[in-house]
Amino acid sequence: MDLTAFFSHPSWFVCSLLLALLFRARRKGSWHPGMCPTDLRGKTAIVTGANTGIGKYIALDLARRNARTILACRSRERGQAALEELRKGTGNPDVVLRIVDTSSMASVRCFAQEILQQEKRLDILVNNAGASGLPFSITAEGLELSFATNYLGPFLLTNLLLDTMKHSAPARIVNVASFRHSSGTFNVNHLTGKGRPKHYDQTYSSTKLMNILFTAELARRLEGTGVTANSVNPGVVKTEIMRHFNWLVRLLFNLASVFFMTAKEGSTSTVYCAVSEEAAGITGKYFDSDCSLKLPSALARDPGLASKLWETSEQLTGLS
Ligand SMILES: NC(=O)c1ccc[n+]([C@@H]2O[C@H](COP(=O)([O-])OP(=O)(O)OC[C@H]3O[C@@H](n4cnc5c(N)ncnc54)[C@H](OP(=O)(O)O)[C@@H]3O)[C@@H](O)[C@H]2O)c1
Repeated sequence: MDLTAFFSHPSWFVCSLLLALLFRARRKGSWHPGMCPTDLRGKTAIVTGANTGIGKYIALDLARRNARTILACRSRERGQAALEELRKGTGNPDVVLRIVDTSSMASVRCFAQEILQQEKRLDILVNNAGASGLPFSITAEGLELSFATNYLGPFLLTNLLLDTMKHSAPARIVNVASFRHSSGTFNVNHLTGKGRPKHYDQTYSSTKLMNILFTAELARRLEGTGVTANSVNPGVVKTEIMRHFNWLVRLLFNLASVFFMTAKEGSTSTVYCAVSEEAAGITGKYFDSDCSLKLPSALARDPGLASKLWETSEQLTGLS
């Protein structure tokens, strides 16, 4: 049979459409932000990486709920564009922009100092900023770029803001991780670029594994303070996350993206952890993209690794 004729048969189109619809139906969770009545008037929230992708929709939801919403972005220009869009879209004038580059511990310290000086409280911290496919590189501070961006920056930022969050309790920390954590490897030498993972894909997965280990240890340390910490998998989401990959990978990602969640859908599990009544008081857990509780990989559940990671991170960020 002629292959061209076979593949151009209309049944291919119909089958693909049905498959796409099936995938979309399967990925819809039972919780919907629009059905959640939580009002955040009088509360303050920070969302890192809020100028695009999942972070922008998280910030949009929090701003709609009347929170003082701080967009923590690394680019003033892109952050300003998001700020104007969010203020216009929500009618909330209390959406503000602050600059932070999570790959630079100096920038994180500067940002945290600004927040501590200017804000009276902090009720929600969403560590969303992240990047994949970054080239292997050592920062001026001696840290590996991907690990600094996705893990050490958020680790330092969270710790610097903890006292304010404790004073604002009940407060919630949400760390955006990924299902990809399960292919990550654990080695604290990765943080400074020694013994680096074989592939940059594995580097990304390893940073996400660290996000979950960090969250678990943080939750243990925060017991009894009224501040909760959880990590989430947003799902497979069509965003700019592949921007550092070559054109072929980007093309394949874009072609396959009809099956992916939209950025708005990808924000749901994070918003659930940040605002829902159902998640109140839950801490140290990992939530899947449909907002259900899920056990992360065995490595991600190892308390020994979590505590070792914490100690090393304290040393590397100058916290200890
Ligand atoms: N998309 C997915 O399928 C997927 C799946 C699992 C997990 N995630 C996680 O979801 C989070 C959001 O990703 P996304 O998909 O929305 O990607 P995205 O569209 O690329 O957005 C990433 C955001 O992070 C910011 N960012 C990156 N590096 C930064 C740095 N050094 N300092 C400050 N901000 C920085 C970006 O700012 P600029 O615009 O200035 O670069 C952007 O605002 C990430 O943590 C990612 O790992 C995504």
